[in-house]
Amino acid sequence: MYQCGRRSSKLPSIEYDGQNWKQYLLQAKWKRFKSLHELLLEENDHIQTSIIEKEIVRVRTKEYYRYRMHALQSFFRKYGNGFDEVYEIGSGAGFNLFTLYESKQFKKLHGLEISENGIEASKQTAHYFKLDNVYFSKIDLRQENDPSFKLITNKLVFSYYCLEQLKKDLSIVIDNIIKARPSRVIHIEPVPLKNSLLELNSYFYSLARDYSRNLTKELEKKQQQGLINILNMEKCYYAPTIRHFPTIIVWEPRIF
Ligand SMILES: C[S@@+](CC[C@H](N)C(=O)[O-])C[C@H]1O[C@@H](n2cnc3c(N)ncnc32)[C@H](O)[C@@H]1O
Repeated sequence: MYQCGRRSSKLPSIEYDGQNWKQYLLQAKWKRFKSLHELLLEENDHIQTSIIEKEIVRVRTKEYYRYRMHALQSFFRKYGNGFDEVYEIGSGAGFNLFTLYESKQFKKLHGLEISENGIEASKQTAHYFKLDNVYFSKIDLRQENDPSFKLITNKLVFSYYCLEQLKKDLSIVIDNIIKARPSRVIHIEPVPLKNSLLELNSYFYSLARDYSRNLTKELEKKQQQGLINILNMEKCYYAPTIRHFPTIIVWEPRIF
């Protein structure tokens, strides 16, 4: 069942800090796995219905996560070439950065997150698996003067299913990112298309959860204002359930 309700400014941090990442930290789930690779794949043989490459498939959970891992790593081979460091905004419990750590593409990885529990879980996981050069710090993307924005100047930055949470503050958050002057930004965010049959379920899910659906429009507006150049927009069809597929949007601030 969809959980309905209006998305207030505070909701994303309450949801994740108080529930998902708190539970994850309390259970120290990473300790159940022998390696980071096993943690990332969940080593779970449960059969689930997912979407992979536009097909509805019945797959083992670990097979789905193997696909997700390769998909994420291949996005960065395509759009992150030439960068030594990568910063994730809204890094949660660090899974995406750990996935990129496995690919060995980057010398340094840094997660920025509002949830103290998410940051603590990420740090403990990195420590447990003895990972080098993976860092986590606090940021509130809504706050223009948050000191952590300085970290992303001239860097490669990405978000993964984070900005959808920030519906009320989306425009402010994008302005804050532009002002920090990163070199390149990659969003991997669900932007459901109203006119696609496969996406109808995603559209109603986003509506019910009051998620942001305007990321592409906001970025196109910034481009028209001469603030950014959008390099690419690409719809991808994979998800652990049969809805909520990502769109990859790559942009760079304009140089004046
Ligand atoms: C759906 S989770 C995604 C986490 C991670 N990107 C992943 O894919 O595993 C969204 C994350 O955005 C974070 N977030 C929400 N509001 C934020 C804000 N204002 N500043 C920074 N992070 C925020 C939440 O705490 C949560 O960890």
